[in-house]
Amino acid sequence: MAEPYTLEHYVADLRRITSETGDEDEIFRRAGPLAQRLATDKAFLQPKHYETNPDQGFATHLLHEEPDHSLAVLVVNWLPGRGAPAHDHGTWAIVAGVEGQERNIRYSRVDDGSRPGHAELEVKHDFHAGPGELICMKTGGIHAVRNDSDTLSISVHTYGRHINHTGRSQFDLDTGEKKDFIVQME
Ligand SMILES: [Fe+2]
Repeated sequence: MAEPYTLEHYVADLRRITSETGDEDEIFRRAGPLAQRLATDKAFLQPKHYETNPDQGFATHLLHEEPDHSLAVLVVNWLPGRGAPAHDHGTWAIVAGVEGQERNIRYSRVDDGSRPGHAELEVKHDFHAGPGELICMKTGGIHAVRNDSDTLSISVHTYGRHINHTGRSQFDLDTGEKKDFIVQME
């Protein structure tokens, strides 16, 4: 049996890949399959990663972050019926499904960005992703996530920079308000 692909293997590969290219498509092409392997082998997964955050609706557990906040790897679990509002990341993102189904709603920004604190979004893609499935978003990509199932969902997220250090935003679809989005870390 092949050895499991560990977090240590993944971080070493991420360091190598991002030292060789800053092109986000190239990072996705090379690191995406490794994120899928990490998510499928589940060697990183610990019982504490199932601990939820009922206040927030999703719980974020940090697996790795470089001292300068780059290359953040997180486990995120989502309570049934809960989710995260539309948001961007301020960096590139690779999400690989571990357990359960997560609904992803991808948005395009349709305003010209001229009004501070305001954004208009339009749905461009609405789909479900399950275990082993991969979602890659470039810097500026906007999505909302929901767990519409009746069981906890878990995914492993890799960001070019820790998302609480990118100045990223969340978007209110009803009012068009754009504001900071900081997540609680477990
Ligand atoms: Fe996200």
